[in-house]
Parts: sequence; structure tokens; C-alpha cells
Amino acid sequence: MIDLHCHLLPGVDDGARDMEEALALAQLAVEQGITHSVLTPHIHLRHYPNTLESLTPHFHRFKKALAQRAIPLQVALGAEVRMAPELLLGEAWKGLPKLGSTEQGRPVLLLEMPYSHVPAGTAQLLRWLSSQGVQPVVAHPERNREIIAHPSLALTLKGTGAWLQGTLSALGGSFGVEIKRVAWELLDKGAYHYLASDAHRIDKRSTRVEHVLQMLTEGLGFEQTQVLTQDRPWAIVASRF
Ligand SMILES: [Fe+2]
Repeated sequence: MIDLHCHLLPGVDDGARDMEEALALAQLAVEQGITHSVLTPHIHLRHYPNTLESLTPHFHRFKKALAQRAIPLQVALGAEVRMAPELLLGEAWKGLPKLGSTEQGRPVLLLEMPYSHVPAGTAQLLRWLSSQGVQPVVAHPERNREIIAHPSLALTLKGTGAWLQGTLSALGGSFGVEIKRVAWELLDKGAYHYLASDAHRIDKRSTRVEHVLQMLTEGLGFEQTQVLTQDRPWAIVASRF
């Protein structure tokens, strides 16, 4: 599996708390069949005011620690950016870490909405980003309360040209039956462009993905599971490794 959403980079957000936890998550990822991970720390003005510049030294330290422990997880630096106009509008989006690029060379940007609702203007913001040559990805729509109540809203966001990324643990039921139902509904409708772990910590929301991959293989078949967890993510990040 190629994982395009995880919070392994230690000490920069609500993910891994220190280097030991980050390395344990990386080791577990490898054991679970994850070969490549794009590290996506939160960028959120109020809570996590990270920038490409501030994250880069942390990334190099983590990469070095992986090599020292001989953990064969290939990593690249990205970010999960709060969908806030002040982080994106004008030229602001240009300085943000991207996941990779589309086959047409459009930079791919992972975006996060608040959990409580879909803010007014979200579709417009996604369309504007597309018009700037960006390929936006909306992280885990299945966990947004307004989308849980009206799953078709996720399809409206997809209709702007944005990609949707589902979370494996949501499909596995870790966030409860309601979110699981919405996640499977979106999956069945073909709404997700790819799936990722969104791993945070070793004791909860970890890189343990094997059981959900197994569940998907049984539900969707091997080929479709590969498309969602290997082929499409790899097409976005291949040039970075
Ligand atoms: Fe995340």
C-alpha cells in the first residue's frame, strides 16, 4: 500500500508524540504492507501553524532516524491543510507542501474541512483552486457531520473536480457505525479517488491497516482494492521517490 495521509512526523501536530512513537508507527506500517508514506502534518493557522520551512528539518531528522533503525519505509513530506481562505487564496497555496502531482502535472494538495459542517463557500474555493491548476483532495469527508447527515454533499464537492480521500479505519468501523455506513456508501458510489490510513498514534488510529485491507478485498475484490490503495496513490507520488 502507498499511504498518502498520516501523521507520523513527530512533535509537529496531534500525531506521533516523539521519535520513538514515530518509529514504532513506521515499523508497524512496514509490517502491515505499507511501502511508501507521504507524511501529512496539519497546517492550521490557530492550532498547528506549520510551514514547509518549519517542517523540513523535522522531516530530515525522521528520515535519518528511519535509516539508522533500518526501517525500510520510504517517506516524503506533504501536509494536510485546513481549508481556510487565508491559507489558500492569492498566491498562498503555492508555498504549501503538496502530495505529488497528477498525470497532467497539476500539483495535488490535501485539504481538511472542519468536522462540524461544510463551510459556506467550500465548493467555490475548490473550484477556484482547480482554476489555478491545483488538484485538491478533500480528506475524510465521511467524518464531516453535515456529510454524515447528507452524504450527497460529498458528491457535490467531488463535482467541483476535487478528489475525495476515504480513511481505512472509518471503513473498518473505528469511528462508529454511522461513519462506517457513510464511508461504505461513498465507497460503493465510487466517490473516493483513493484511501489512506490517516494514522496518528500507536495506541489509537495507528498504521494497523491489514484487517481493513482484507475486508476491502473481500467486499470490493483484489483489483479494486489495489486501485484505491496502491495504483492511484502511486500515480500521484511516483515522481517523488
Ligand atoms: Fe489527518
